[in-house]
Amino acid sequence: MVSKAVVTAGTGGIGLETAVGLAKAGYAVTVVGRNAQRGARAVERINAGGGEPARFLQADLAVLDEVRTLAERIATEGELAVLVNNVGAMFQDRTDLNGVEASFVVNHLSPYLLTELLLPALRSGAPSRVVNVTSGAVALAKKVFDEVEPPGGYYGFHWYGRAKLANLAYTLDLAARLEGSGVSVFAADPGGAATDMTDGTMRNAKIVSPGLRLLWPLVRRKFERSTSGAASVAARSSIVAATDDTLQTGLLIGPQGTPVTPIKAATDPRTAAAVRKLTEQHAPIERVPDGVSN
Ligand SMILES: NC(=O)c1ccc[n+]([C@@H]2O[C@H](COP(=O)([O-])OP(=O)(O)OC[C@H]3O[C@@H](n4cnc5c(N)ncnc54)[C@H](OP(=O)(O)O)[C@@H]3O)[C@@H](O)[C@H]2O)c1
Repeated sequence: MVSKAVVTAGTGGIGLETAVGLAKAGYAVTVVGRNAQRGARAVERINAGGGEPARFLQADLAVLDEVRTLAERIATEGELAVLVNNVGAMFQDRTDLNGVEASFVVNHLSPYLLTELLLPALRSGAPSRVVNVTSGAVALAKKVFDEVEPPGGYYGFHWYGRAKLANLAYTLDLAARLEGSGVSVFAADPGGAATDMTDGTMRNAKIVSPGLRLLWPLVRRKFERSTSGAASVAARSSIVAATDDTLQTGLLIGPQGTPVTPIKAATDPRTAAAVRKLTEQHAPIERVPDGVSN
């Protein structure tokens, strides 16, 4: 039987390159995005490499109801071998999505919800894998998770990093939760690449805190350097995490395609517990207890 893989935000940027890599590795790939034309172009590009036919599914992953609908659709199709939660977004100005700050929704709640709702399909498809795409921005994030947002002004880069940190802590926690289930869980750090996301957000000093704004010329140069690479290179960490059979569950795969040590906050059980509480509050699901076959 053909193994199936899903790549969210897989119609452009790093996600599309990840999808191309997974198709080359023999998976029948589903790419998810908002724009159908972009989706059709992505499918054409993936299929040009031969292999199993790819397909596009339309969903705005910033809308949690659309995430639920997408998960239902994929879950009815049975076994799933690979889920790459590649969707991510950074916002220059504070944006609200149904009362929740947008970067927390897109970078954490959305991939969390899709993963949890697809666990039955991933268990059926075991040995299977979840890959959650993270970012180096976690290092500059506030590490307290008693609220969706810390008090004070809005700085998109730091809020993005904080949401990615929540998701990284969740990812490592999930790996421990699913130990022995046949579902392996990885985080993948792409490093940086020139994509719509970086082009659209990383040129404005307002995304960083006042302290870093004072150093903006330096910070901007650093951003430019670190996001000048090709998306095809940045996809390496996700492709390795999804396909390398020698990897143990619970690893963070770095930009070079090898395991790296996560920052301390991501492995702190207090972070994981606080993130879990906040997450379940804002993206509730009826959970089937782990270990119960479903
Ligand atoms: N680029 C970097 O330097 C960098 C560095 C570290 C981490 N990352 C992480 O790597 C991942 C990919 O980044 P990227 O730079 O390739 O992002 P990107 O340029 O924003 O990715 C574009 C793709 O995402 C889709 N997309 C965007 N928002 C979506 C939504 N709400 N729902 C569904 N699809 C959506 C777009 O399709 P539609 O417009 O048709 O929806 C398009 O296919 C993200 O998680 C990001 O945080 C990136």
